[in-house]
Amino acid sequence: MNTQRWDELKNEVTACTRCPLHRTRTLPVFGSGNPQAPIFLIGEGPGYEEDKSGVAFVGKSGQLLDKILAACGFTREQHVFIGNIVKCRPPQNRNPLPEEQAACLPYLEEQIELVNPKIIVTLGAVATKAILGSHVMITKARGNWGLWLNRPVMPTYHPSALLRNPNLKRDAWDDFKKVIDKYREIVDPAHYSKYY
Ligand code: URA
Repeated sequence: MNTQRWDELKNEVTACTRCPLHRTRTLPVFGSGNPQAPIFLIGEGPGYEEDKSGVAFVGKSGQLLDKILAACGFTREQHVFIGNIVKCRPPQNRNPLPEEQAACLPYLEEQIELVNPKIIVTLGAVATKAILGSHVMITKARGNWGLWLNRPVMPTYHPSALLRNPNLKRDAWDDFKKVIDKYREIVDPAHYSKYY
């Protein structure tokens, strides 16, 4: 990992004015977890709690995500880095506009290059479309491996969708089991998870 470039990139994001979202945000959210992680999770953008704290996925969705990761035997400290399509909170948590996503995407691409993860997971429709193509439907794509920047991508539901509709949790768990399979295949055959 090029830590010097990583720190520079973080500073660039903090000073960024490429789109109007910087005007209404409190703190940018560069991402959280291990910058050398084998798994890179991609969310949509900061919500209320993330905007206040500067940390990715710390609100209700983040707490559910942590439970899912724990069930997989993954931790933020060791196995994952969590970033977003846009680094600044869209007002009222609306979806980031295409031009806001386009302005911010180069930061995510460079983060992927620097972290060099073996596996990518997109969380929800916005992240999945941004990474795999605007025509891609989360309900069809989830559970199926895609490819981005030469890396396997597993699209799955956003934790907020699982909170709204707990019936989706079964499918989401099937998707994360595929991530565990892939992790055992290409990172650590001895990886232990309590439930799978
Ligand atoms: N939802 C997201 O998509 N990203 C976050 O960081 C928090 C909530």
